[in-house]
Amino acid sequence: MLSGPNLQLLGTREPEIYGKETLADIHGRLADRAQELGVAVEAFQSNHEGALLDRIGAARGAFDGLLLNGGALTHTSLALFDAIKAVGLPCVEVHLSNPEAREAYRHESKLAPACIAKVSGFGGDSYLLALEGLVRWLGRRPARPAR
Ligand code: DQA
Repeated sequence: MLSGPNLQLLGTREPEIYGKETLADIHGRLADRAQELGVAVEAFQSNHEGALLDRIGAARGAFDGLLLNGGALTHTSLALFDAIKAVGLPCVEVHLSNPEAREAYRHESKLAPACIAKVSGFGGDSYLLALEGLVRWLGRRPARPAR
């Protein structure tokens, strides 16, 4: 679970839009849900595009999939799009708010075309629902032949 710029400020950042939960609260709930689902999840936040790119680039072989709240980078970053495509892991785009119902400059996602799905508008629950969706998606995928 990767979260981008300004998401470390959740809890006090525009709570009327993003809610009052902190990112640590959401990560805690995500870990609990992961345990219930029998999967492991690692959560990371950075304000730096390069740090997010490094994590995505290192994910192949270490993780089965990606959950990504790119924050504002969602709307600008061709580099994040390329990174998701490059590692070839299923990625779910995640947002607390529903960007399509907000300012016009949030309507375009550079990441969506590289993602299998998007969960937005459910506040912190978006993170949990995205995990659940990804786990189900992975369960539906035909198993890789044994080597
Ligand atoms: C966000 C939506 C983005 O448009 C915004 O720039 C964010 C947060 C969300 O989770 O709702 O930083 O990704």
